[in-house]
Amino acid sequence: MVSVTGAVSARFSHVQAILQRKSFSHYREPLAEDLTFEQAVKKYPDRNALYAYMHHYLWHLAPAEIRDHRSYFSERRRGFGEDAFHAMWWLLLREHQPRYALEIGVYRGQVTSLMGLIAKLCAFECEIHGISPFSPAADTVSKYLKNIDYLDDTLASNRRFGLPDPHFLKALSTDTIAVQYIRSRPWDVIYIDGNHDYDVALTDYKVCRDALARDGLLVMDDSSLYTDYRPAKFSFAGHPGPSRVVNELAFSELRFLGGVGHNNVFTHF
Ligand SMILES: C[S@@+](CC[C@H](N)C(=O)[O-])C[C@H]1O[C@@H](n2cnc3c(N)ncnc32)[C@H](O)[C@@H]1O
Repeated sequence: MVSVTGAVSARFSHVQAILQRKSFSHYREPLAEDLTFEQAVKKYPDRNALYAYMHHYLWHLAPAEIRDHRSYFSERRRGFGEDAFHAMWWLLLREHQPRYALEIGVYRGQVTSLMGLIAKLCAFECEIHGISPFSPAADTVSKYLKNIDYLDDTLASNRRFGLPDPHFLKALSTDTIAVQYIRSRPWDVIYIDGNHDYDVALTDYKVCRDALARDGLLVMDDSSLYTDYRPAKFSFAGHPGPSRVVNELAFSELRFLGGVGHNNVFTHF
């Protein structure tokens, strides 16, 4: 049972989060500069400042289609993530123009459709793949909606944006068929956001690291808990599992390109 004090404090936090998000979203002249991802990281080496730049970018610099896409997935629990991440993907994909993209943990298709939309707007060819159970399959730190046909729902949202269907494999990332699928080609971008428990996040990381193309990008979600990222009330630093994986392995084995909130972006040395 939630105590009265607990309920009041939760309500207070919620209001604080709304106000902080509003304040981050106000137009600010010094942030209103269209940089590449690399330039943005150089200009804002502090994670907290980079996050503020990315959040502001979505609101004031990104194409309206990208903003509208984020609004659609923010409604009715259609997606997770934060506004700043849409700007991160826009800058990363606009610059790197990946030919083959893979997401582990598709949920309702926010990121696979965002990738497709960016490829369409920037007029490059991108084959988009996703591996997910397309069910409410969860882990020790997450819970998902029941009573949704995840595959139908994901395809319907994707089509709503006028995009071709991505290639989906209905499986857990650790299933033999999924591991073979990941290993079947070098990927130009891989986004890991499936099961957040340490053992699974570790396996996903290792398999994906080895399948990453020479100049490919590996983006690890929910992995900034042990960094100097200090999230505002409306933001989230990550889960212990993926955060431990990046600290123990990714930060030393791969080249760190930058971190936007709880997303960390890597490539090979
Ligand atoms: C946090 S959600 C992904 C959110 C999505 N990236 C977005 O932006 O809306 C994690 C997804 O991973 C799925 N999942 C859970 N365990 C998985 C596994 N072992 N392999 C692949 N996906 C998994 C869940 O069912 C869920 O759809």
